[in-house]
Amino acid sequence: MKKLTIEDVSLKGKRCFIRVDFNVPVDQFGNITDDTRIKAALPTINYAIDEGAKVILASHMGRPKGIVAPHLSMNLVQKRLMRLLGKNVIMAEDCIGDGVKKVIDEMKAGDVLLLENLRFHKEEEKNDDGFSKKLSELADVYINDAFGSAHRAHASTHGITKYVPQAAAGFLMKKEIMYFEKAVSNPTRPFVAILGGSKASGKIGVLNNLSDKVNKVIIGGMLSFTFLKALGYHMGGSKVEDDMLEEVKKVMQKMKEKGVKFYLPVDFIVAERMDMRAEAKIVPAQEIPNSWVALDIGPATSTLFTEALYNAKTIIWNGPMGVFEMDAFSRGTMAMVHAVANSFALTIVGGGDTDVAVHNAGESDKISYISTGGGAFLELLEGKALPGIEALTDKKE
Ligand code: 3PG
Repeated sequence: MKKLTIEDVSLKGKRCFIRVDFNVPVDQFGNITDDTRIKAALPTINYAIDEGAKVILASHMGRPKGIVAPHLSMNLVQKRLMRLLGKNVIMAEDCIGDGVKKVIDEMKAGDVLLLENLRFHKEEEKNDDGFSKKLSELADVYINDAFGSAHRAHASTHGITKYVPQAAAGFLMKKEIMYFEKAVSNPTRPFVAILGGSKASGKIGVLNNLSDKVNKVIIGGMLSFTFLKALGYHMGGSKVEDDMLEEVKKVMQKMKEKGVKFYLPVDFIVAERMDMRAEAKIVPAQEIPNSWVALDIGPATSTLFTEALYNAKTIIWNGPMGVFEMDAFSRGTMAMVHAVANSFALTIVGGGDTDVAVHNAGESDKISYISTGGGAFLELLEGKALPGIEALTDKKE
């Protein structure tokens, strides 16, 4: 790690401001449906408690755009956090201001305070200087453990670092960076990238960045339609990004020149429309009927992709192979989950609901690392520097 981490800073008796990503999915009744991100921040929070800091947790939830929206209050997280920590968590009425400062003054070492949703202030997303400064007034030490938000240059992930003496990574942030670097910068080969999901346009940057790093690329999901069309296939009623055809041709040519083995689906599950009850059948990629839509990779493709993974030593996977939320079209994605889970590779999964697919398949324990980042993970794959990481204090040589 080139950046300071929580273990490099002294926390005893300090006000330790930890930016976490508690942007968790919540159902219509306000129940948290997946608390992975809260659990992932526990090592950092518990460490700060044990070190005798006053622990101040800050996060956003949803996109309220500067409006105080009660259904996006952090108090939805407070109860779950108390249960997971096994101790009281004080809920603040805001994330800045004298009222919050007063509460912090009264806290004892080891107490935990959860600030209200940062995005109830529009200045958060604007990375506003004044707001960043106000946040910094609550902190003696700043820790960023919000990997999921590290691609955002917001006041709590970026601006605040200008006003605190030291900005260090938490354990989750450190783990995310270390796994990613191990896989991408220094992979044990063969190194395979699996990309799925909806849009080719969203993955071109990833493919360009990975083209001189990987040995094999596997493309599934709706993303594959644009690649197949570029090769002259007829994709029926499946959605193709026609404006990306030239781009994807260039990427495929680049892969070819670099000797990267490139795998596309050879068959699909197609249906008359995107509906569980619609008539569905398996067809070769060459035989998609007019106006029918491809909703999953077919069994021959699952076998092909599984074989391509046999000798892999490092696998990175982003994006499902089909509409896995509907049982009828989930088999291709589930087959990939099992193939990745049963491989002898270092396996890293992240972004685009790939983590959800892995959880649904019950294979989470067999994956080396499941990233808590969506957009952040994708931007790392694109080779971009993430502002939330860049802004942390460099370690002295
Ligand atoms: C995420 O869920 O990807 C992060 O919490 C960032 O949320 P955002 O896309 O609303 O900035």
